[in-house]
Amino acid sequence: MEYWSITEGVFNCLIDKKRTDAFSNAIKNTIKPGDVVVDMGTGSGILAMVAASAGASKVYAVEIDKNNIVNLNKVFEKNNLSNIVKVIEGDATKISLPEKVDVIIGEMIATGLIEELHLPAMNNILKYAKKDVRVVLNKIENYIDLVNNNNKYYGYTFNVPRYEYADDKSLVSVSLSEKSIVNAVDFSVVNDNKVDQLLKIKCTRDGVLNGIRLSSKTTFYDKSVFSYYYNPRNQYIGTNCANGIKPQMFLADDTIITVNCRMISVKLSG
Ligand SMILES: C[S@@+](CC[C@H](N)C(=O)[O-])C[C@H]1O[C@@H](n2cnc3c(N)ncnc32)[C@H](O)[C@@H]1O
Repeated sequence: MEYWSITEGVFNCLIDKKRTDAFSNAIKNTIKPGDVVVDMGTGSGILAMVAASAGASKVYAVEIDKNNIVNLNKVFEKNNLSNIVKVIEGDATKISLPEKVDVIIGEMIATGLIEELHLPAMNNILKYAKKDVRVVLNKIENYIDLVNNNNKYYGYTFNVPRYEYADDKSLVSVSLSEKSIVNAVDFSVVNDNKVDQLLKIKCTRDGVLNGIRLSSKTTFYDKSVFSYYYNPRNQYIGTNCANGIKPQMFLADDTIITVNCRMISVKLSG
């Protein structure tokens, strides 16, 4: 996958108040007057503008999607911030920045670090970081639990990856295991982009295991925490997840397993 983008997705991010407020507050608590900042995957430009309003002297707003690019300069101009925010069109996983930055912001992240390319983008952008760089989205912890997933829609069975939206109770799954940590990633250092791990997970309830649920918790530089849990972009359930989901591909077996409370091994790779 070269990049993940969808205009509707960018707008949904903008109107996701809980998410946008969490990021905005963390940015305001991190920026110092005069900072040079990069916003990777700027989308609507909201986080770049928050950084500019918080006192940054320069914000490089990196965006790959031409559909967004056409609007960004107009948005920054309308908000009288075009003297501070500069749009850079390109791929954050490869792009060079014109100067080193004090602060890295960006939200190219989905539950479990799958789909979007936050991790490879961070690995590249860190090349342009000043020594004491402050990374606003500082850490992510990814968890899995094993579930019985209601995968019937309109009377048909769909073994498909999906989100578990908090406002739709029919999408909530029954947990059959403890919630186990897959990994904890510190974005202020370069990280390996591969997962190859065997997890032993203790089942806590009998039932039919037909799904693996990912959930994530992010910690900001100011120590505030945001969980991709009771947020609309929340949990990811996969049975036989599609190939091509990167940077971390979740491989689950399509076979239905009946669980009698015991330890189960789950192999993660991708
Ligand atoms: C989830 S949206 C978030 C937008 C915005 N940062 C926010 O918080 O509202 C991710 C954005 O990253 C952009 N993007 C995805 N892959 C990218 C890449 N490799 N380089 C630069 N931008 C990318 C998408 O086009 C999209 O605008």
